[in-house]
Amino acid sequence: MRALVLREPGVLGVETVMLAAPARGEVRVRIAAAGVCRSDMHLAEGGLGAGRWPVVLGHEGAGVIDAIGEGVRGLSIGDHVALTMVAPCGLCDPCRRGERTLCEPAGRRSLAGMMADGMSRLTAGDGVVLQHGFGVACFAQYAVLDAAAVVEIPRQLPLWQAALLGCGALTAFGAISHAARVGIGDRVCVVGCGGVGLQAVAAARLAGAAQIIAVDVSERKLEAARRLGATDGVLAGDPDPAGRVRALTGGGVDHALEVVGSPATMRLAWDAIRPGGTAVVVGLARVGVEVSLPAIEFLSEKRIIGSYYASADPPSALRGLAELAGAGRLPLADVVSHRIELDGIPEAFERMRRGEGSRSVVMIDPQLADQP
Ligand code: APR
Ligand code: ZN
Ligand code: ZN
Repeated sequence: MRALVLREPGVLGVETVMLAAPARGEVRVRIAAAGVCRSDMHLAEGGLGAGRWPVVLGHEGAGVIDAIGEGVRGLSIGDHVALTMVAPCGLCDPCRRGERTLCEPAGRRSLAGMMADGMSRLTAGDGVVLQHGFGVACFAQYAVLDAAAVVEIPRQLPLWQAALLGCGALTAFGAISHAARVGIGDRVCVVGCGGVGLQAVAAARLAGAAQIIAVDVSERKLEAARRLGATDGVLAGDPDPAGRVRALTGGGVDHALEVVGSPATMRLAWDAIRPGGTAVVVGLARVGVEVSLPAIEFLSEKRIIGSYYASADPPSALRGLAELAGAGRLPLADVVSHRIELDGIPEAFERMRRGEGSRSVVMIDPQLADQP
């Protein structure tokens, strides 16, 4: 099959790759479409640390089940599915505490890019064993996943839109509903309105936020955010963007989401919240990056927390989102700026670096991706 392979940071291209049949408890998915997320770019630049290549990239995708390993129940060939990076074991300490996003074996597997048996199902043409990027590896025509990592989705949902559920949508909605717990009438600020941030704006609106202030370096991103429900926009290049947010809300927002991954924007989110408010860091920083805060302000009961991948049980959260999307209530199409081919991914990373566009979706099987 064709797949996007990262040999080492900066060295990536489409190659012919072998994929072994699904083992016990696994399924094979014919990938229809996959979203290009900033975390793929981070990994491809080496920003997530060493040891993560050679690898087939891609972790946000959807497709159709086309082969099933032994012992898999509840899934059938032909099912439309979205993919998740975390299939919680249900048995480790974090799982028992209900913090399933933090499942230890699932985290180890995603980091190592290997299946449950510690092996890979992917081999390059020259015999080199390849990792499954983030445990998913969906910048490819097919992917083998743990059956617990695929979630059936409604048939009426176009697969190119469903492709966005498994990372961007899940991350954004989880941060709004499970980490921040935005309530009716709350004031929310979203710093960074790219592929994930725009979905956070949409989620805040669905959660009943009265005021949603979008912050971005680009006026076009602010316009996109307004279309999805932002009530105000502030340019990050403004001399005092946090001051502007506080002025717009009479003292600061209840919740500020950071969806960029840099110390400056984390600080901006902190400065934008009211006393007692919460800053939620969603953005993924490069390994080694630190952030500093004015410590005196803890006196005002401000809080800063992290949110990773739904802050809940990822497969259940994904199922809920798929229902919402199937009912036509998730503006997934609106966060897509480019529909591209597999060999267009390096260019999509370039656009991301330049801050252009929002989500790029790889139409891996264009006919299937457009279904129904
Ligand atoms: N202030 C405000 N916005 C900024 C700034 C800044 N200093 N710098 C960049 N941005 C904006 C960009 O203009 C862009 O709209 O942040 C947005 C980032 O969006 P994308 O590049 O589309 O990245 P995305 O896929 O949304 O991921 C954002 O969330 O899940 C994490 O790993 C992911 O850290 C990444 C973050
Ligand atoms: Zn992602
Ligand atoms: Zn677990």
